[in-house]
Amino acid sequence: MTQCVLLTGGAGYIGSHTYAALVDAGYDVVILDNFSNAARDVPNRLEVLAGRGIHVIEADVLDRAALDTVFADHRIDAVIHFAALKSVGESVRKPLVYMQNNVGGLVTLMQAMEAAGVYRLVFSSSATVYGEAEQLPTPETAPLSYGNPYGHSKLICEQIIAETVASDPRWAVGVLRYFNPVGAHTSGLIGEDPAGVPDNLMPYVAKVAVGELPVLSVFGDDYPTPDGTGVRDYIHVSDLAEGHVLSLKALERDGTGHVVNLGTGRGYSVLELIAAYARASNRHIPYKIAPRRAGDAASSYADPSRARALLGFEAKYDLHDMCRTSWVWMQNAKKASD
Ligand code: UFG
Repeated sequence: MTQCVLLTGGAGYIGSHTYAALVDAGYDVVILDNFSNAARDVPNRLEVLAGRGIHVIEADVLDRAALDTVFADHRIDAVIHFAALKSVGESVRKPLVYMQNNVGGLVTLMQAMEAAGVYRLVFSSSATVYGEAEQLPTPETAPLSYGNPYGHSKLICEQIIAETVASDPRWAVGVLRYFNPVGAHTSGLIGEDPAGVPDNLMPYVAKVAVGELPVLSVFGDDYPTPDGTGVRDYIHVSDLAEGHVLSLKALERDGTGHVVNLGTGRGYSVLELIAAYARASNRHIPYKIAPRRAGDAASSYADPSRARALLGFEAKYDLHDMCRTSWVWMQNAKKASD
């Protein structure tokens, strides 16, 4: 029988790509999103992509009554929980808002799931739970810590999940620790479109390449890395989306949960990413060296072996694909807004 999955935050960047991957894998999907950080036209774009009607409920994960209605109206088999706030800088300014949304949202959702008898959950966590990682590549067994309220909220969520799973064996939860998701769907129909000036590297580079921003600041060139700039494990968002499908399948198959890294295992520096984007877009990307950004680690990359062993996860796209798909999407997004 076709399984039906509820995607909270399903109109967002990672959520929308996971929608596409789930439809490809034969799932029915219901999206719940409050559109606080998603474009209004995403559902239409997903309809074009999937070639079928889409079920979108506009509601907040903190709204328990709305969640109860979703579970009453749909035969949900599992939930993938993306809906959360994710800006490190904003979390430092508004810690309570981050705790309420990220921690309160998870608790409200798990209570609604329990009431509805739905015990399969995939949770969006982050490599941020490793803090300044002591081990590189970083395995899931590395010590956990946090450096800001956003990271703290994800760590608390992981702990709440572990305690809840320990309290009731009916729960099966996949905790996915994302490294740095970038790129866009190969169709060019969906991608990352941050409002205003982006915090993250690739969307910033994309806006410089397309001419919306004049110059990129490279935050520090004196790190202990091969070229002195920060090294990260960039993973194509469609590979990440596939990781969610595999996590869901593992929960169905095994009946127990897992905690896994989703990364490629390969790190690239800021300068390598700029060079790759310049090649993929055939544009000059002006940059200047700026001071380090507070709280940034020198290097972060995953040990992806547990995801391979438990889920059969293997990243398919390389850095060039990440840049090329981002560039195609960026040009489409610009055309749509001109
Ligand atoms: N960088 C620049 N210039 C910019 C933006 C970023 O040089 O304008 C550099 C950063 O210093 C870093 C690298 O590019 O070396 C990547 O930075 P991002 O902001 O793209 O990504 P981070 O690794 O800092 O952050 C990501 C997620 C966070 C998460 C963190 C740790 O965006 O949500 O990983 O897991 F907390």
